[in-house]
Amino acid sequence: MNDLLKLLDLSGEEIVDILNMADQLKYERKHGIPHEHLKGQTLGMIFQKSSTRTRVSFQVGIYQLGGQGLFLSTSDIQMGRGEPIEDTARVLSRYCDGIMIRTYAQEEVETLAEYASIPVINGLTDFAHPCQVLADLMTIREYKGVLEGQKLCFIGDGSNNMANSLIVGGLKTGMTVSIATAPGYEPAPQVMEFAKAYGDKFILTNDPLAAAQGADAVYTDVWASMGQEGEKAKREKDFAGFQVNAAVMEQAAQDAMVLHCLPAHRGEEITAEVFESKAEYIFEEAENRLHAQKAVMVKLMKK
Ligand code: CP
Ligand code: NVA
Repeated sequence: MNDLLKLLDLSGEEIVDILNMADQLKYERKHGIPHEHLKGQTLGMIFQKSSTRTRVSFQVGIYQLGGQGLFLSTSDIQMGRGEPIEDTARVLSRYCDGIMIRTYAQEEVETLAEYASIPVINGLTDFAHPCQVLADLMTIREYKGVLEGQKLCFIGDGSNNMANSLIVGGLKTGMTVSIATAPGYEPAPQVMEFAKAYGDKFILTNDPLAAAQGADAVYTDVWASMGQEGEKAKREKDFAGFQVNAAVMEQAAQDAMVLHCLPAHRGEEITAEVFESKAEYIFEEAENRLHAQKAVMVKLMKK
C-alpha cells in the first residue's frame, strides 16, 4: 500500500490491519505510551474545501507521531492560482514525507499520487472519504466487538462520498450494507459494480424504514455536500423523507448505534433527539478520526 486514495484500492485484510494499528495507537495515546513512529517527518495538508475534523486530527496526529503538519490552503498556495497538480506533487515531494489532500475531483487526488514520490492520503473528494470510513469501522468494531455480520444502514444521499465509501468499507469487512436514498441519488457506477458481487449483503432501496430494519448502526450525512450549496433547496425536497428520526430508529436493532461524519444539520438529515441520545457514539467516531489517520500515516510513511 503506497497511498490511501479510496477504499476500493484496499483489501479487507489491509483495512483490518489499519484498524488494528489504530486500536493500538489509541491505547498508547490513552496510556501515555510514546509512539513517535514518524519522528522528524512532515505532512503537507492541501485543503481546497473547509474542514474542522480532518484538519485538526491530521495536524495533531502527525505531531503525536513525532512529526509536523503543514496546513496548505489552496487559497494561499499557487495551486489556487492554476499551478498544475502535477507540479505541486513533484515540488511537495522534495520537501515533505507525505501529502494529505481534500479537494473536489477524485481524479485530482489520483493525479497527485501519480506524480508524487511520497505517499498521498485522500482527506475527502466528491467521490470518497476513506479516512472517515476507517474511523467509522473502528468505532463500530469498538462497540460491537466485530464487523463481520453487522448490518450498517445509510440513509440520505446515496451518491455522495460517504455512501460510496461506506458501501466499499462495510462490504469488504464482512458487513451487510443497506442504503436508503431518493431516486436519482444512487451510488457511483464503480461502487454499484463493486457491490454487485456481494449479492444480498448489499441492499439499495428508496424506503428508509426497510433499510433500517434490524440495523446495528444507522448512518447519515448532510443532504447537500460541500460544493452542492446551490442545490440545497432541491435536495431538501428530494430528501424530505430520508431523515434519521424516532420512526427509523424503531426499525433498527434495540442497541443500534447512530453515526454521523459531521457536521450535522439537526432537523434535516437527523432529529436533534436522535442525535443527542446517540451523541456518545458520534463523538467517539469523531475522536477515532485521530487514531485511524495516525495508523494510516504510520502504515504509509514509516521509513
Ligand atoms: N467529517 C469530516 O471530514 O469533517 P470535516 O469536514 O470537519 O473535516
Ligand atoms: N458529504 C459531506 C461530508 C463532510 C465530511 C461533504 O462532502 O460535504
